[in-house]
Amino acid sequence: MRARRIAVSGARGRLGRALMTALDKDRNAWLPIPWTRPDVDLDDPAGLARLVERDRPDAVIHAAAWTDVDGCAREPAVAMRRNGAATAALATACAGREVQLVVISTNEVFDGLRTDGRGYRPLEEPAPGNPYGASKLAGEVAAAEAYAGIDAPLAIVRTAWLYGPPGHDFPERILDAAVRAAANGEALRLVADEHGNPTFAPDLAAALVAILAASAAGTFHVVNEGSASRAEWARAILEAAGVRLATIDVPAATWPRASTPPPRAILEPSPVAGAAPLRAWASATAAYVPELLAIRAARPVAAPPVGSAS
Ligand SMILES: NC(=O)c1ccc[n+]([C@@H]2O[C@H](COP(=O)([O-])OP(=O)(O)OC[C@H]3O[C@@H](n4cnc5c(N)ncnc54)[C@H](OP(=O)(O)O)[C@@H]3O)[C@@H](O)[C@H]2O)c1
Repeated sequence: MRARRIAVSGARGRLGRALMTALDKDRNAWLPIPWTRPDVDLDDPAGLARLVERDRPDAVIHAAAWTDVDGCAREPAVAMRRNGAATAALATACAGREVQLVVISTNEVFDGLRTDGRGYRPLEEPAPGNPYGASKLAGEVAAAEAYAGIDAPLAIVRTAWLYGPPGHDFPERILDAAVRAAANGEALRLVADEHGNPTFAPDLAAALVAILAASAAGTFHVVNEGSASRAEWARAILEAAGVRLATIDVPAATWPRASTPPPRAILEPSPVAGAAPLRAWASATAAYVPELLAIRAARPVAAPPVGSAS
């Protein structure tokens, strides 16, 4: 049997890289096709349909998105175009060819205001609390409409708080903030009233490959097991990095933002055929931090500007 042709939009993003790596592990089963800029331009939704015609994939994983939540809040119409209209155009093109489609979505389709302590389940009614979530929900809805009555599987996979190679993620921002706080002799201030599911992108990628293999259809919540506040997650990162520093819990309102992050948009993981539940977030974080430290150590040090004092 020939390998299935899997197009990955946003293949240079955090999740896209992890997906390319996961698919590369079994070249007998998968032929990954990276879809990146400039071929992919979310401001040109029709261009995505042309890519489907050009590459004739067996399946598409749509990981490209405008993930700048504050940018989305400042320019909601642009967010709707990039995350809503582009997903709609891609889904229409894929449905027309009966191509399997996996749309990556977000916990921010929920406002996170529930107070009963439960996580959100896939079939609960979404209610976004910010323009990023609204634009991602528009993409979900359009994809579902495009696949109504189509004999090909559509999976909508919601996830949350992604981190992983190449760094420049929440764990790395915490390590940077810890260095600054230590240099200033201050305690590190950590947000204690925002809760979510820290999710390691390579763990999610492995589950997405299982969704492809099972031709699974429906809405799935795929996150590492358990939930945490930003402060709890940060303390786990510091501990794994061997950083000893005083910390203070503060409210998210300490840092005003354009977007309103949902306070408790915790996803309840849903089973994925052929895949074990993702490991606990604390185990994944503890395993990643040494890798992150190695990534940081291997980065070239920025050269001083010409003429600067030595
Ligand atoms: N990050 C999170 O915490 C999180 C949480 C829940 C859900 N998600 C969802 O998970 C998916 C993957 O996220 P990620 O963390 O991997 O994001 P990411 O690292 O920001 O990657 C996004 C990808 O989209 C591409 N992209 C962005 N704007 C584009 C545009 N205007 N035209 C063409 N390509 C564009 C980027 O291209 P370049 O590489 O060229 O910039 C990048 O490859 C997204 O659908 C996101 O909504 C993310």
